[in-house]
Amino acid sequence: MIGESVKLFCGTATPTLANAVATHLGQKLASGTVSRFPDGETRITIEESVRGGDCYIIQSTCAPVNHSLMEVLVLADALRRASAWRVNAVIPYFGYARQDKKGQAREPITAKLVANLLETVGVDRVITVDLHAGQIQGFFDVPVDHLTALGILGGHLKTTDLADSVVVSPDVGRATEARHLANFLQLPLAMLYKRRASPTETEVTHVIGDVAGMRPILIDDVISTAGTMSRGIEVLVDLGAKPEITVVATHALFTPPALERLRSDAIKQIYVTDTVPFHEKNDRVAILSVAPLLAKAIRNVHVHASVSSLFAT
Ligand code: R5P
Repeated sequence: MIGESVKLFCGTATPTLANAVATHLGQKLASGTVSRFPDGETRITIEESVRGGDCYIIQSTCAPVNHSLMEVLVLADALRRASAWRVNAVIPYFGYARQDKKGQAREPITAKLVANLLETVGVDRVITVDLHAGQIQGFFDVPVDHLTALGILGGHLKTTDLADSVVVSPDVGRATEARHLANFLQLPLAMLYKRRASPTETEVTHVIGDVAGMRPILIDDVISTAGTMSRGIEVLVDLGAKPEITVVATHALFTPPALERLRSDAIKQIYVTDTVPFHEKNDRVAILSVAPLLAKAIRNVHVHASVSSLFAT
């Protein structure tokens, strides 16, 4: 149980995760409803006082991305206008994070726009998990607690047979996290160099490290269409890796045709977390929960205790 001044809210995107976090905190979600007006506008009612409350909106901004984001913004606005003491946005999967720089002329930096929106509505703090790039923290002027699920995923992998395994980063962007995981599991590291041909197609042009005869553990932040993973798997098998590949990712968006692509016989197991809901029955997909991690972060933020101990793998 934490203090009564802590109020937990969620919208319609990740209510199961929000409820699990609340349970870990020995609390219930605050009463209120998040629905839509007939024309599709977001409608929020908060049915208990939040005056002076330490309020946490727990919601990934996953599909439908714009709607989920709008719910977070409108909830924050409602809480601010209802005299909450502090409004914390707990966004386990931060949608738009992959649009964090201009890759081409005249592109927007939408991750920064989202940060601006959250600050404009009065969010005092953001708690998130495995951002696409750590630098996104700098898009905010309010504190960002950037948690990682590597400890959860790595901790589970440690209980499995890791003989002849090698941790593989599917692109340069994941190299640091892959190195952390390799160190944690005391395994060698390899890296693929990926070039994105389109939002759904990728190609691997270079490979660093030895994978022949090994069992790769491919680790990424996000699986969206699984283009990155499936291309990586093809290359690894072509290079002589054993077709007993473990796929690991924090955010399982599983946008079509991801599940089709992940049907490859070369995949032994897929480990993801519940930052994004996945309800389909699939024997090869194991879901590890980040709810205990988020609950600890909320507790520590509330009592002004260190959150950095939760970052470590
Ligand atoms: C990109 O750099 C990310 O880290 C992921 O590799 C990418 O977003 C995954 O997308 P997809 O599954 O569509 O290849």
